[in-house]
Amino acid sequence: MKFDFHSHILPGIDDGAKDIEESVKLLDDMAADGVDLVVATPHFYCMNMRIDRYLRHRNAAYEKLRPYLKPEHPRIILGGEILFDHSLVGNDKLPYLTMQNTDFLLLEMPYAKLDDQIIRGVEAIVEDRQVKVIIAHIERYLAFTSYKSLCELMNLDVLGQINAESLAHFGTRRNCFKLIEDGYVHIMGTDMHRIERGYASLGKGMDIIRKKFGNDILEEFERNGKMVLKNYSYEQIVG
Ligand SMILES: [Fe+2]
Repeated sequence: MKFDFHSHILPGIDDGAKDIEESVKLLDDMAADGVDLVVATPHFYCMNMRIDRYLRHRNAAYEKLRPYLKPEHPRIILGGEILFDHSLVGNDKLPYLTMQNTDFLLLEMPYAKLDDQIIRGVEAIVEDRQVKVIIAHIERYLAFTSYKSLCELMNLDVLGQINAESLAHFGTRRNCFKLIEDGYVHIMGTDMHRIERGYASLGKGMDIIRKKFGNDILEEFERNGKMVLKNYSYEQIVG
């Protein structure tokens, strides 16, 4: 089964699909790629919007899209891509931002060096245990921060997601391979935004991983994905 845990397919809510037509096109591409399930993860920036307002917007965007969904489209689960901010630490509304029917929160790191303050902030969210943390597209932060700092973050009780597209480019592919080898990657996503950027094929990304590591790792990702959707604990998933 193919799970896409990170996407911006909902119409007109963030810098992803701008209208229903574009959402449908993105979903057509996903269907052609054999994606079974996609988590819609519109950006949430706590400095721009209140949580309840964001959720209202997100749910309304989904309702607008719903009549246009086709039987062959992947099943859609609602979630969010939540940019880390210190104000989220200890925030009792954080569970509202998790992936539907789970306690998993897709957390995006600021695009800056991962300093101790940020890492301790994520640690506090993890230890608070209101939510279970998945770090979004972990390979991307290596443009801003050292591998050592990223490891420090990923050594917390968090899961890691990588973008399929990063496997298609030489420089970022190397980083993805290293992160997979070191056990920091658990699930994948497309992070699809706009149709004009081209479809970041999950299938192609998986083929590249299969060629390098064999099929076992992809089976492990699939198992992880199923466990996330069933809201297993971090320990059950990585154990
Ligand atoms: Fe994203």
